[in-house]
Amino acid sequence: LRVLLLNGPNLNLLGQREPDIYGTMTFEELNKRIRDYAKEIGIELKSLQSNHEGALIDAIHEAADWADAIVINPGAYTHYSYAIADALKAVRLPAIEVHLSNIHARDEFRRTSVVAPATVGQIAGFGAMSYLLALQAAKAIVQQGRE
Ligand code: DQA
Repeated sequence: LRVLLLNGPNLNLLGQREPDIYGTMTFEELNKRIRDYAKEIGIELKSLQSNHEGALIDAIHEAADWADAIVINPGAYTHYSYAIADALKAVRLPAIEVHLSNIHARDEFRRTSVVAPATVGQIAGFGAMSYLLALQAAKAIVQQGRE
């Protein structure tokens, strides 16, 4: 079971970035928790963080050749990247959208995800746990599809 994990812009600054909202866990620490959990539940994980929309899109295209599912935190691209939404639709892999914060309880502009219609569903508001829940969901979806 192979999963591509994508993190979009500014997530590399986790820990220093608006800690009142995103917490003090660094991106490194977050990744370690995610990697450990993935291993525990039998997921082979490849992960990429990029501050560039095109790099995220390239990775989505390439995932078509090897991945079973995509877990993506598009950062602020969530709210306006039709290009990322289109890429997810194009590859037709099941995708799960993840957010550390509850985007529905913040600024008005964060309540809209243009990426969500290209995904199976969204998990938001649980901090690092959002990613772990998303991996669980990815595993369940892929296994269902194989039954
Ligand atoms: C975020 C929420 C987005 O609105 C914001 O632009 C981010 C992080 C989250 O994980 O809570 O960069 O995706």
